[in-house]
Amino acid sequence: MIEFKDVQKYYGDYHALRGITATIKAGEFFSLLGPSGCGKTTLLRTIAGFEGISSGAVLIDGKSMAEVPPNLRPTNMVFQSYAIFPHLTVEQNVGFGLRKDPRSVAEKQKAVDEALGMVGLKGYGKRAAHALSGGQRQRVALARALILKPKVLLLDEPLSALDKKIREQMQMELIKLQREVGITFVLVTHDQEEALVMSDRIAVMFEGEIAQLADPETLYRKPANRKVAEFIGTMNFLPASIVSEDTGKITVDAEGFGRIEINATQVSKANPGDGPSVGFRPETLTLLFDGQTASDRESTATVSEVVYYGDMTYYDVKLAGSDTPLRLSMRNTPGRPVLDIGAPTRVAWSAGAMVLFR
Ligand SMILES: Nc1ncnc2c1ncn2[C@@H]1O[C@H](COP(=O)(O)OP(=O)(O)OP(=O)(O)O)[C@@H](O)[C@H]1O
Ligand SMILES: [Mg+2]
Repeated sequence: MIEFKDVQKYYGDYHALRGITATIKAGEFFSLLGPSGCGKTTLLRTIAGFEGISSGAVLIDGKSMAEVPPNLRPTNMVFQSYAIFPHLTVEQNVGFGLRKDPRSVAEKQKAVDEALGMVGLKGYGKRAAHALSGGQRQRVALARALILKPKVLLLDEPLSALDKKIREQMQMELIKLQREVGITFVLVTHDQEEALVMSDRIAVMFEGEIAQLADPETLYRKPANRKVAEFIGTMNFLPASIVSEDTGKITVDAEGFGRIEINATQVSKANPGDGPSVGFRPETLTLLFDGQTASDRESTATVSEVVYYGDMTYYDVKLAGSDTPLRLSMRNTPGRPVLDIGAPTRVAWSAGAMVLFR
């Protein structure tokens, strides 16, 4: 439905988009994820038509948007800096796009009330917009876009000013809403957790390029390179050397783990200039308590850091023969002790959960 074909964008000498080629499917929840300055907003604005491109093409429903001004595109955008009209009331803001709508006043009021309900601002309609908190303004901006039922809704960090609780609530509301109305959502965020929770697919961007475009699970389990692996969640890395390569498997010596075999499908790119390493997520490493044995492999280790989170405890451990701290996460079940720093312990692990970066 939305296609980018080798999109290049220069701001003067600055090369902001460096050959973006990707397709966003109709009805999907798509996210652009990446660090500050990587070009997310710029790319989103090329869909809306607020940003011209230097070369390449942006197509919507197979039609080039080159000559189509923003107001004639089937898109609506919620801006990063929630631009609402401070001198209007909340409901005047939300209903702003309905000024020329032929529906009756009562019907429009109903639509406004519905939109306010969707963003959790029921009863705020008569309030002056300037008398709202930052998070409430953001939600007014969202309601104002939703009420127009665009084919494509472009969201530039729409939840960034919200506190954790409301943010998580709004994430759920947005997912539900998107499923109900079937609008294509394109969300810009620098928050990897938000992208993982909300998206059907995610484009991870660095420095004007898409490093990987995939569903959340693939991004998490099979990152295309070390940069993506580090940006999405937490990953442990241990230096490794390659011993031999067979069809289907690669044998490596990894610091602290010793000799392990890695499936050839679990291979990703190291950073340029770096040697090989094995990477694995915190939840694939498990502390063994008294009497427990590993189903696959185990190693002795020492606790070097403990962070207690209520439901979970995060530990850093160092394997015998390694000075690299490894992060692991354990659910706090009743009766399970929380270990102290310096405590000797054992950890269970499995080569099947590892990715070789080379
Ligand atoms: N109008 C402009 N003129 C010159 N450079 C610009 C302009 N707009 C953006 N840039 C530059 O282009 C790069 C990409 O900007 P963009 O706003 O797309 O980043 P972003 O990924 O949305 O970042 P953030 O997460 O901070 O919002 C940045 O380095 C920015 O400084
Ligand atoms: Mg931005």
